[in-house]
Amino acid sequence: MEPQAARERLAAADHDDLFAHWDARPAGARRQLEASLRLLDDDAFALIARLQAVTQEGEDAAGTGGSGGTLTAAPVLMPVDAELGRLREQGEEVLRGGVCGCLTVAGGQGTRLGIGGPKGVFPVSPVRNASLFQVFAEKLRAAERRYGTTVPWFVMTSPLNHAETEAFFQDNEFFGLREGAVTFFPQGMHPVFDQQGRLMMAADGGLTQAPDGHGGVLRALRIAAADQLASAGVRYLFYGQVDNPLLTFPDPVFVAAHQAAGSQLSTKVVARKSAEEKMGVPCLRDGAPEIVEYSDIDSEMAAARDGQGNLLLAFGSIAAHVMDVPALFDWESRLPLHVARKEAEVLVPTAAGATVERSTVIKYEHFVFDAIQRARSPLFVACERAEEFAPLKNETGDDSIATCRQGQSDKYRGWCEQAGIPVARVDADGQPVLVEVSPLFADSVAELKTRLQNTVTRIDETSLFA
Ligand code: UTP
Repeated sequence: MEPQAARERLAAADHDDLFAHWDARPAGARRQLEASLRLLDDDAFALIARLQAVTQEGEDAAGTGGSGGTLTAAPVLMPVDAELGRLREQGEEVLRGGVCGCLTVAGGQGTRLGIGGPKGVFPVSPVRNASLFQVFAEKLRAAERRYGTTVPWFVMTSPLNHAETEAFFQDNEFFGLREGAVTFFPQGMHPVFDQQGRLMMAADGGLTQAPDGHGGVLRALRIAAADQLASAGVRYLFYGQVDNPLLTFPDPVFVAAHQAAGSQLSTKVVARKSAEEKMGVPCLRDGAPEIVEYSDIDSEMAAARDGQGNLLLAFGSIAAHVMDVPALFDWESRLPLHVARKEAEVLVPTAAGATVERSTVIKYEHFVFDAIQRARSPLFVACERAEEFAPLKNETGDDSIATCRQGQSDKYRGWCEQAGIPVARVDADGQPVLVEVSPLFADSVAELKTRLQNTVTRIDETSLFA
């Protein structure tokens, strides 16, 4: 839209502050705002109006749900022994049939980790410092080898990190994957507001926008990849977050359980470490399954225990799903909005020009797990935390660089020990012994055992099997 027409439309909708002190403003800032205005179309104005109304009317208007009704623990499938073996065989058959794809959401801003750019480039593995993207690419190469078929990989970026993500893959020759097997697609963006519902400007003067949340993946997939999913014959999509390098990806047991339950959307869960752990919790609200954010569960309920002392709400989601294609395209239009308040640098026009200030801004996100309420027969499947979950969220403390590296090393130490190879805790110099197994070397304990048999009998120093 022409900047002048967009300006008039915004001014009519109470956004005239955007144009305050226009002539005094630096030329660069004026150009940035005009560039933002050129990108606005009717859909963008409709979105602005909706989010503005939500901001002004309060969070209830966002339709987030998350309140009312009675919460109880959702049933969780815990496959054991013989059942596990059977599911594995069935799932391997599904994977060999070439009807599964993998989906990684990598459009987040990694604010807590404090890095600009894509989180997937972060060097994360414990011994060789491989990036998150490399770890996942190797899992897919291992799957292609094991199942004898291409597993198409869909990687959701955001407009803020799309180019950098693609360049990283190009520079690294797709980590050995066929270039055509990877599809990058950007998620949508939402405008950002102040507490009064006014549009905010970024430090450069353009309109501030932020990615529309991992739930934006449903819309973005429809726009950018629906045809490809159909032509590749993808029936099931494994969804994972870029920041959990432990995830089994793809997972035959998970897809077989999903299929057997007639579920359209299944979710992996682990036992919660404590009542305070920051995870989404699988619940029934008045009997209907959903994942409730930890912050939306009252503390008494979150901490309630049974007669044996176990948490009643015993499980937390690790944000890994199997989704039925094409059912997932039906859920997008009904996802609620979630409100996030963040500190950001914003441009404030003044009579003398403009200043850049830190301010609290309001972002609106969709969460993919809200689709559980729309899906038929949703299923929760338990898995082992030590095998599947060590997320990288923070620089230090919980879910940090150190715990993520340690989690990977602990998993592979466990694999070596299960393969009958003892691993020392510390080396001859008293340094902790770390272990890393590339998915290309072995993607299971059984394969590791075969590969190491007769060559390694114990591990006394930090070791890489790649
Ligand atoms: P988080 O909610 O942990 O956010 O994302 P984040 O962006 O990685 O980190 P913070 O909150 O800014 O510190 C969980 C997963 O969802 C993806 C992330 O890339 C990560 O894989 N995500 C999140 C998106 O793809 N898009 C979004 O808009 C938000």
